Amino acid sequence: MTEKANIVVIGTGGTIAGQGKAANNTSAYVCSVLHIDDILGTIPHASALASLRAQQLLQTGSENFSNEHLLEIGKSVSRMLARDDVDGAVIAHGTDTIEETAYFLHLTLKSTKPVVVVGSMRPPSAMSSDAAVNLYDAIAVAAHPSSRGIGTLVVANNEIHSARDVMKGNSFKIEAFRSPYGPLGYVIEGQPRYYRHPSRAHTLATSWSIETLALLPRVDIVYAYGALEPEAVSAVVARTQGLIYAGTGNGNVAAHLIQALRDAVGRGVHVVRASRTGSGIVLRNGAQPDDAYGWLTVEDQIPSKARILLTLALTQTDDLQTLQTVFERY
Ligand code: DGL
Repeated sequence: MTEKANIVVIGTGGTIAGQGKAANNTSAYVCSVLHIDDILGTIPHASALASLRAQQLLQTGSENFSNEHLLEIGKSVSRMLARDDVDGAVIAHGTDTIEETAYFLHLTLKSTKPVVVVGSMRPPSAMSSDAAVNLYDAIAVAAHPSSRGIGTLVVANNEIHSARDVMKGNSFKIEAFRSPYGPLGYVIEGQPRYYRHPSRAHTLATSWSIETLALLPRVDIVYAYGALEPEAVSAVVARTQGLIYAGTGNGNVAAHLIQALRDAVGRGVHVVRASRTGSGIVLRNGAQPDDAYGWLTVEDQIPSKARILLTLALTQTDDLQTLQTVFERY
């Protein structure tokens, strides 16, 4: 008989730790109240998959997660992974910003051990809750050798997603997570099955290490619409180091906003032309002359993850060309 993997399960709050008054409260409930031990208590059969150790790190909704929370989660997971008696980690997390935390870990952890971030769309108290099955699947994925060396994963609705690609695309349905190029695989009855692997650099192949990261630079997102005023852009520019411009369509910039974004560059703020559509490519020097304006382009990343990427990139360089290569590499 092969030995069971040792998996640490870290609680941070979210719907997976939530509780409603009645079973039909699938959307109205209190988040972040159940201890990770209590959630694990609902899936006793998970002990057949792995030897489990639980840790309650935080107890709050992921909409509250600042850069400091990301650092705290990352450093805590990294410490766990460094131990010889830990083979992988599962992080129970709110779903709202699960993609951001997962991507941050994907880019900064220095380990090949599996890390799975998991949440649920319905609390354990609700009818048709996905909390138990998602956590069970996440443990199955973290415990399985086929999950090693492929970066941080997000597991939900029987799917395994790469942290790079996944985004929350629905506010209440169980089928809320999607990756533009599809999931990496499925989980069925405690068995992960992979059909593809991430092609972009992650974990050991990145230039960031969670161990050496301290204060993170400020990067903000501006969401574009036709009536957006230049003053709103300038107000953000005045207090940030990087600005992700979530433009319409393929990163279009309204004519009356071009000067405000050019002025931002003049003030030393890095401007990234992105798209608010949720998928697709923003082509450099396509809709706008990015080289001439000193703007960066996002490639295919969504604005919330472009923020994570630029935040990390700015810890190491201010050079425009180097920053652009970051968007093409990760
Ligand atoms: N408070 C939200 C969060 O923690 C709940 C959303 C969820 O977990 O599904 O992100």
